[in-house]
Amino acid sequence: MSRSAHPAGPRYADVLPEGHYTAPPTDLNALDPRVWSRTVTRNAEGVATVGGLDVKRLAEEFGTPAYFLDEDDFRARCRAWRDAFGDEADVFYAGKAFLSRAVVRWLHEEGLNLDVCSAGELATALDAGMPAERIALHGNNKSAEEITRAVEAGVGRIVLDSFQEIVRVAHIAERLGKRQRVQIRVTVGVEAHTHEFIATAHEDQKFGLALAGGQAAEAVRRALKLDGLEVIGIHSHIGSQIFDTSGFEVAAHRVVGLLKEIRDEHGIELPEIDLGGGLGIAYTPEDDPREPHEIAKALGDIVTRECAAAGLAVPRLSVEPGRAIVGPTAFTLYKVGTTKELPGLRTYVSVDGGMSDNIRTALYDAEYSVALVSRTSTAAPMLSRVVGKHCESGDIVVRDAFLPADLAPGDLLAVPATGAYCRSMASNYNHALRPPVVAVKDGAARVIVRRETEEDLLRLDVG
Ligand code: LLP
Repeated sequence: MSRSAHPAGPRYADVLPEGHYTAPPTDLNALDPRVWSRTVTRNAEGVATVGGLDVKRLAEEFGTPAYFLDEDDFRARCRAWRDAFGDEADVFYAGKAFLSRAVVRWLHEEGLNLDVCSAGELATALDAGMPAERIALHGNNKSAEEITRAVEAGVGRIVLDSFQEIVRVAHIAERLGKRQRVQIRVTVGVEAHTHEFIATAHEDQKFGLALAGGQAAEAVRRALKLDGLEVIGIHSHIGSQIFDTSGFEVAAHRVVGLLKEIRDEHGIELPEIDLGGGLGIAYTPEDDPREPHEIAKALGDIVTRECAAAGLAVPRLSVEPGRAIVGPTAFTLYKVGTTKELPGLRTYVSVDGGMSDNIRTALYDAEYSVALVSRTSTAAPMLSRVVGKHCESGDIVVRDAFLPADLAPGDLLAVPATGAYCRSMASNYNHALRPPVVAVKDGAARVIVRRETEEDLLRLDVG
């Protein structure tokens, strides 16, 4: 969109990089269903509600900043993924996006499996009753303790990420008198069109064993020789926040190619492939994510076709969506503390959180949308930047936003689509207290992760 499409006047001065924001929305009060969770709407007084509860009451009861998670939306997304992939495939929710005991129970009830990548995530999963055989352990540098706990617990699979780890897991399993089911993580050399830090299938990065050059085939060769391992399949994860299925299709093509090589060399057909997670979500209405059924169909078709061409039986498919399940289900609620107009530039709106509860804007240049939710307004749009209260200028929550010009201290703002990688990447920078996660459903709200307290902070500081 060209700058001439923006309203005239000093607020829209020529200082922003082209394409970094679009024209103000025609209705600043609208809560676009493309970015808000399913039960979010406004009540007759113009106050936003989620699960039937108004955000002013929620802010009074739970404080701000806080994440509000729409349980019905979360469960509906689990079911959409489950139904799309059917009984012939498994959906592993990627716990790194956001994990808590309540979430584990919902996953269990909705028939999903769980991908964990640390002892902490494994402990949370087991504590909340996820059957070990439905858990997959990931990581490029799993410790001996993590591997031991996973093998002892009986996790369904460990995804092997290096030559050293192949031997390490085999030894631990043998010592425990077990044969551990494993997949080998391969890098397929696909360029995912996403931020460099969250792309994982190009070759110059830390994950997996490269298909090109034969490392992946060598890993399979070595793993097949070890008694402690049962090699069940090949794993590929190409990156995150991906909007088209073409990268997955290339990955599937190359993974099936490896299955064929393995069949030709060893005379065995590995029974499983996992194509990872990474499906994008809408952070702003401009984003256009694919639906689970589209992804399931694209992946199912390509795997079936490639296997037919290679003369292989179709392996059991699994996927690992994290963001696409939990991302859209939550918003962060903030209170406006100060507003500062920079004449000719924009208005800086400071809220009571910031990069400690959402590092994604600073880290990945992520874009978010934001709305005034404690009331409606008929004031003109004001070019704004929503910033936090931390001591650095990169502490930005929403880089470019239009908010009503009558915005005032005490107003509540909400940033949608913060369910994934916000609470899970939250920090105590400046000794901020990490916000709670409150689950909302059918007119009831309950804290599933409580707010940190100064006591929590001081307890760690053993001075
Ligand atoms: N499977 C594996 C092996 C992964 O490494 C990941 C994410 C996933 C599944 C889930 O990906 P998702 O569907 O959630 O995109 N902190 C970054 C994202 C890092 C993702 C790391 N691995 C962000 O905030 O965008």
